[in-house]
Amino acid sequence: MANKKTELPKIDSRLNSIGIIMDGNGRWAKKRLLPRSAGHLAGAKVIEGVLNDLREMGIHHVTLYAFSTENWSRPKAEVDGLMKLIYKYLDEVVAKKIVEDGSFCMRFLGDKSRLPEKLRDKCIEIENMAPDREFVCNLALNYGGRDEIISAANAAFAECGGAITKEDLERHLYTSHSPDPDLIIRTGGEMRISNFLLWQGAYSELHVTDTLWPDFGREDIVRAVEDFYSRQRRYGGVIEE
Ligand code: IPE
Ligand code: IPE
Ligand code: MG
Repeated sequence: MANKKTELPKIDSRLNSIGIIMDGNGRWAKKRLLPRSAGHLAGAKVIEGVLNDLREMGIHHVTLYAFSTENWSRPKAEVDGLMKLIYKYLDEVVAKKIVEDGSFCMRFLGDKSRLPEKLRDKCIEIENMAPDREFVCNLALNYGGRDEIISAANAAFAECGGAITKEDLERHLYTSHSPDPDLIIRTGGEMRISNFLLWQGAYSELHVTDTLWPDFGREDIVRAVEDFYSRQRRYGGVIEE
């Protein structure tokens, strides 16, 4: 008899927004003596199942780190392969999902102008298919937290013409439509943020798992959620016992 699928954990309004640093594709491939591109392909294949689980669990905003402003420094063949893979994924999987699933939409975080033209046009097409729905998946693509803060500060300053407030800056972040992540999950075991949601993650709970992204599944989601609920969020204050 097949194993019963792990049940999804119950959550409440404390956990509404999750960020994921999808790391470890290269190591997953290396362990199997495969090229890094095989790891990226395997990584792309698990995304839809994870999104479905998070939505079924009751999450409304998920931000996936797909390509950083620093990832351009990788060998050209890997970067070109990733751009092609992301295009294909948006064209074949995401566009279909938006049509078939009335509660799902995708937004892109990052400077689209540096992306290959075909990919840039696809991103815009995907955003226009469904600008705002109940379940928002933000795909961070050519995204860097430092770049985001600098461009938001410049835009806010141009708008205000003088000193800017936190609200002025936040209006110009790529994430202005989504709440800050309550939880940031990083796969692949590295204990660092790697320029992901630097502003928005100021008080996010961090969960790092050694699981490599292509192996990430329900059991990992359960562990991350349990870890989140074991934390006491204090925001610099004191909780009276
Ligand atoms: C994450 O996996 C995917 C991207 C950064 C595009 P990596 O390619 O960084 O995998 P590792 O960290 O080398 O294993
Ligand atoms: C972070 O992973 C970026 C993405 C997952 C897209 P990296 O593999 O680029 O991060 P570092 O180099 O280990 O910090
Ligand atoms: Mg990596």
